Amino acid sequence: MERVGILTGGGDCPGLNAVIRAVVRRAAGEREVLGFRNGWAGVLEGDALPLDLDNTRGLLHRGGTILGTSRTNPFKENGGAERIAATMEANGVGSLIAIGGEDTLGVARRLGEHGIDVVGVPKTIDNDLAGTDFTFGFHTAVQIATDAIDRLHTTAESHNRVMVVEVMGRHAGWIAVYSGMAGGADSILVPERPFDVDEVCDRIRRRHSAGHSFSIVVVSEGATPRDGGETHAGAGTDAFGHARLGGIAVDLERGIEERTGYESRMTILGHVQRGGTPTAFDRVLATRFGVAAVDAVAAGEFGRMVALHGTEITRVPLEDALAAPKLLDPSLYETAEVFFG
Ligand code: F6P
Repeated sequence: MERVGILTGGGDCPGLNAVIRAVVRRAAGEREVLGFRNGWAGVLEGDALPLDLDNTRGLLHRGGTILGTSRTNPFKENGGAERIAATMEANGVGSLIAIGGEDTLGVARRLGEHGIDVVGVPKTIDNDLAGTDFTFGFHTAVQIATDAIDRLHTTAESHNRVMVVEVMGRHAGWIAVYSGMAGGADSILVPERPFDVDEVCDRIRRRHSAGHSFSIVVVSEGATPRDGGETHAGAGTDAFGHARLGGIAVDLERGIEERTGYESRMTILGHVQRGGTPTAFDRVLATRFGVAAVDAVAAGEFGRMVALHGTEITRVPLEDALAAPKLLDPSLYETAEVFFG
């Protein structure tokens, strides 16, 4: 029986296990599925386990990934592509299903140039992958952030405070805008639009002089001040050259309190947004993607990524999906702005 390999790479994301389950279910009877552990690291090292209906039962609602994940970049390793080809040959694996975001799928695209057959499945809570209307995991992250904003709302109201909520979003402000709109934020700061802290403070002052005693500011981790330029990042980069983001809310809390005199507090949601059970929407999307990925393998449609267009599942060239990050639709931000202040 033909063998297909599957791996989950990059940051974990609610719905990964639902994709794995769907791949195994769709392949049953026609293809064996070999799961590689810890992203591309498992394919490099030949670290794998056979997946079947028994060991993928009960996964639909489970967060994380039973395969483990990593940010390993095979192209940073000596002979990475050749080692991957060798692992595949040694295990009788004819093709791979790679579940990941820009980095994992970027590797998938490059492996195609080395004659390795890969189908991609778009995963990231950031929703910044082009070629698909939504990635799975995004909806769950938005729900988690919205629940947090709702909770911060009541404490902001009780203490007459400004609450700054930092959400994930490296290149794009999708989580910030969706959760900010859903949670009734008074300002939303995103990577696509460098912000001016004085403008944010003016908005807060206007709101407070109109009789409101508290404000909610939602900020993406990748947002930058207009005059400062730099993204808020810690030291070091990962194997794909990305800095570790986080902390812009600390500066904002201080900046807002100093300028306005209003007591301010910040919350960084961080990895809470990636953990736990996926929403129903993400379970269904992940399941559809998993089934479609096996169908793409069966059709020999390699170098492609399954995608959501409107309500349909389609296949798009990995090249198109990776050309540039999918940034916020300006009209969505303009709609959010109607409710600022
Ligand atoms: O998966 C994307 C992402 O959630 C980004 O928004 C964030 O910057 C990054 O992952 C954090 O990654 P790590 O788990 O490696 O710190």
